[in-house]
Amino acid sequence: MGEATFGPVRLGVNIDHVATLRQARGEFEPDPLFAAHLARLAGADQIVLHVREDRRHANESDLRRLRETASLPVNLEMALSPEMELMALEQRPERVTLVPERRQERTTEGGLGLDGGFLDRLVPFVSRCRAVGIRVSLFMDPDPEMIVRASGSGVDQIELHTGPYAWAFGGPDEKGALEALVRSAETIHSQGLLVAAGHGLTVHNLSTVLAIPRLSEVNIGHSIIARAVFFGMREAVGEIRGLLLGAGLGRRA
Ligand code: PXP
Repeated sequence: MGEATFGPVRLGVNIDHVATLRQARGEFEPDPLFAAHLARLAGADQIVLHVREDRRHANESDLRRLRETASLPVNLEMALSPEMELMALEQRPERVTLVPERRQERTTEGGLGLDGGFLDRLVPFVSRCRAVGIRVSLFMDPDPEMIVRASGSGVDQIELHTGPYAWAFGGPDEKGALEALVRSAETIHSQGLLVAAGHGLTVHNLSTVLAIPRLSEVNIGHSIIARAVFFGMREAVGEIRGLLLGAGLGRRA
């Protein structure tokens, strides 16, 4: 069941882009683990890593080393596949976030679809994860009807895809995109699940998202790593942490 969310929203820092830079040369630097340690020092609550089928950035060695040394909870983003399930059950991250995966996409482009037997595969997957202490989250579009369909599967959290809101930010569609997030967050909470949000969030658009009721966690990658290139990891994480702390003052569930 969902917990009450008092105080600041939790911050997950996605370090995939550091691995992308490493893979560009096939060398050992920069090491995403180094980014994880700096993110922790700057106040991150969890490290997010997406191990893709094509291993274009993070890989199982990154995940294993994170589990061994990072001393922060790990949120493993992955597709629902037998190969990834094996990896998750072996490495036991605190959380798995299921995402759709398409080889041609640059990044995760939409929330999960529930057709094609997905829900039938999801339910036993979630119970195998729960048996070893892994909590499961679903990355979903802000669509209350889909959210209700997925919420009986045993997951404890739904992460709302904030990409459409981020693309609309500052334009005529921003208000509608935000309203869809608010409605969906209420639906998630009414189903007894935790509300998370992620994709396209930045220091500029985050404050509005923090008004989403019941929000307990945001996961941010691209904008943090992009700013870290110029200002350093600790400052890039710290400025987001500052926004979350400020918004958390006086927050009530
Ligand atoms: N949450 C999920 C489920 C994602 O797939 C991603 C992208 O990997 C993020 C959050 C972070 O998105 P961004 O890199 O745009 O901050």
